[in-house]
Amino acid sequence: MPKNEAVVYITRKIPDPGIEILESVADVYVNDCGPQNPPSKTEIIEDVTELEADGLLCMLPDEIDRDVLTASPDLEVVSTLSVGFDHIDLEAANDYGIAVGHTPGVLSETCADLVWALVLATARRIVEGYRFVTDGEWKTWAPEAIVGQDVYGSTLGIIGLGKIGTAVAKRGAGFDIDVCYTARSRKPEREAELEELGVEVTHVSLDELLRRSDLVSVNVPLTDETEGLLGRREFQQMDDDALLVNTSRGEVIQTDALYEALAADEISRVCLDVTDPEPLPPTHRLLEFAPDRLIVTPHIGSSSVPTRNKMAEMAAENIVARFRDEQLPNAVVSPPNPGV
Ligand code: DGY
Repeated sequence: MPKNEAVVYITRKIPDPGIEILESVADVYVNDCGPQNPPSKTEIIEDVTELEADGLLCMLPDEIDRDVLTASPDLEVVSTLSVGFDHIDLEAANDYGIAVGHTPGVLSETCADLVWALVLATARRIVEGYRFVTDGEWKTWAPEAIVGQDVYGSTLGIIGLGKIGTAVAKRGAGFDIDVCYTARSRKPEREAELEELGVEVTHVSLDELLRRSDLVSVNVPLTDETEGLLGRREFQQMDDDALLVNTSRGEVIQTDALYEALAADEISRVCLDVTDPEPLPPTHRLLEFAPDRLIVTPHIGSSSVPTRNKMAEMAAENIVARFRDEQLPNAVVSPPNPGV
């Protein structure tokens, strides 16, 4: 492929606003693999090498390791269409002077909407109710058909009071909930924001949170510290009627332990937008509990049209900034610009 200006490789089709921004400064190559057939690491390496790409726009399922980062001698910036960057080897990027950007902030409210959608769907047994209708079982109003759990007035435990966790807690004002949270340190400003909305909020240990909460929402990024954070011991602390929702990363929960806790009735209901493994195979044993005690969605936390458009723009703007020798607007790794 001829190279006459900066080249950007995108590992699959992203919303048009992002592509338009990139096309104003570079030749843009989009892998046409289709939405459900992501390129392998080998294919990404081959494409980046062949194109001698200057910029790489990647997504969560792409493993961006040292081999990918060294595939093109010209690679100067990697930007991911996600807030999470656990799929990128940041140390290697730093070693090679490659800037890394992501898309924080914009998706917090959209993810928080999904948390509540899952909580309500699970607590009020919406999927089962739908099946009840379509399976022809609905013959009459019945006092004990599809009875669920109340959400209003609950105690919500938020593991990780970052931007998404705070947006989840704020929505609790309308449900008259109390919030407890864990975080490495207390977050007085976030507590004040919530208290202004009438949400009572307390900083507690993880064990205390698990013991107190009717609803537990996992909102931590995946790090060495949070990987496998919730296992059998933690599930045993939870109330038998508690509901757990994970929209962060599948690896924060030990999947086998979750299966065992559900099997032993140590935890009542679970909703997962992220899984380990991800994608969750349709034959996975965890799905034995679906849909009455488990709902799984395919990692759609940020999946609204405006948010995905904005994420595409932000990911593109990171790349453009690097080409202009400017700081990335949303940087994770900021080596000095090559021209500086
Ligand atoms: C992210 O951006 O990291 C979310 O998990 C998906 O949108």
